[in-house]
Amino acid sequence: MKLLTCFVCSLFVLSMYTAQSQTNYDESMVPSFEIPDPLLTFNGEKIKSVKEWEKIRRPELLQFFENNVYGKIPKSLKIDSYTILEQDDNALNGKAKRKQVELTFKNNGKTLRYTILIYLPKNNVKNPVFLGYNFYGNHTITEDKAVIISSAWANNNESFGIENNTLTEESRGKRTHRWAVDKILDAGYGLATIYYGEVDPDRNDFSDGVHSLLYQKSQNQPKPAEWGSIAAWSWGMARALDYFEKDHDIDASKVISFGHSRLGKTSLWAGATDQRFAGVISNNSGCGGATLSKRKFGETLAVINERFPHWFCDNFNQYGNNEEALPIDQHQLLSLIAPRPLYVASAEGDQWADPRGEFLSAHYATQVYNLYGKKGIETMEMPKVNEPIHNTVSYHIRTGKHDVTDYDWDNYIKWANVFVK
Ligand code: GCU
Repeated sequence: MKLLTCFVCSLFVLSMYTAQSQTNYDESMVPSFEIPDPLLTFNGEKIKSVKEWEKIRRPELLQFFENNVYGKIPKSLKIDSYTILEQDDNALNGKAKRKQVELTFKNNGKTLRYTILIYLPKNNVKNPVFLGYNFYGNHTITEDKAVIISSAWANNNESFGIENNTLTEESRGKRTHRWAVDKILDAGYGLATIYYGEVDPDRNDFSDGVHSLLYQKSQNQPKPAEWGSIAAWSWGMARALDYFEKDHDIDASKVISFGHSRLGKTSLWAGATDQRFAGVISNNSGCGGATLSKRKFGETLAVINERFPHWFCDNFNQYGNNEEALPIDQHQLLSLIAPRPLYVASAEGDQWADPRGEFLSAHYATQVYNLYGKKGIETMEMPKVNEPIHNTVSYHIRTGKHDVTDYDWDNYIKWANVFVK
């Protein structure tokens, strides 16, 4: 048995090695393909007005992404109750208000709970808020000792001191560099974050997380067109927004969804499916996020679906090594966010996420923004590194690697000040 497991493991490692070594990082090897037109319906009708876009084209695109990419949520599941687990009006050395709010959901005799950590400027007004998931627990984004450590399943990570899939004190503050809490508060925004593993553990196991609350009798995994983990995490962001509508310190009409990498894919899908999000940020979201799949540059659909089979719905598998068959591409996901402000950000050292594909995607989504009279990425010429383009659709590519930096936050804040606040 051990031998067999070993054999299967080696096969997997070998196939990953082959897939990664076949990765294309050469612009001249990008296949030529037609960009699916956001303003042409699947029946070939040209969309000429906002009304037609909203009535005909937007719904059919959204439906395509639901059924074939991220998966549909089987039915609605509302907050059963919420509890303020902890609150302090003098947090962060007197600089901020802090709340830790637990949302509870119940269905099928099962319960799901997750906790939103919220920092707010100390004032008596309703504040705009950036909302985004974190990878290793709320306590990793700050040194603040009061932040509760989640008991949910986590990926092991030696450098974070995570063994036996359990989060510990050792990782407190390990990710502060990704969360510019002071800058955000100083600029008059709140920050809200959730450990994504509390909504759905990031593993190919559908017995846990929110999925299990919505199964029909004797169902134990989503159907081919039903939600994968990205859709589940997006659902979790929308329910946080439901809570914000009840919180007197938050301006729920000015909540910006934010996310990095797989959580950037999530942030985009949350913004596309819930139009209450006032703005959307995709930080290095790459394949299955902002970047164009048909370019097959960096990570491809076959590779992402093999490594992370639980992120998308099963119907998405049919497009691995078969991108030509896709009647859509990811710029159309971005166009679903129109006319709301959207920021797509890349990093020079993050070729895996195909920065040029992310840029072009923002460009091709722009025509829908133009329909609303908004400006986006009008040019097809990529800006130089660290020279952001700020419009309703914004874009930058910064120096450095796959990460979230102060540079990113400085730009998100500048953009939000103009287009969201
Ligand atoms: C992997 C994956 C990416 C993803 C990233 C992340 O690199 O291939 O698609 O964005 O993990 O979430 O960190």
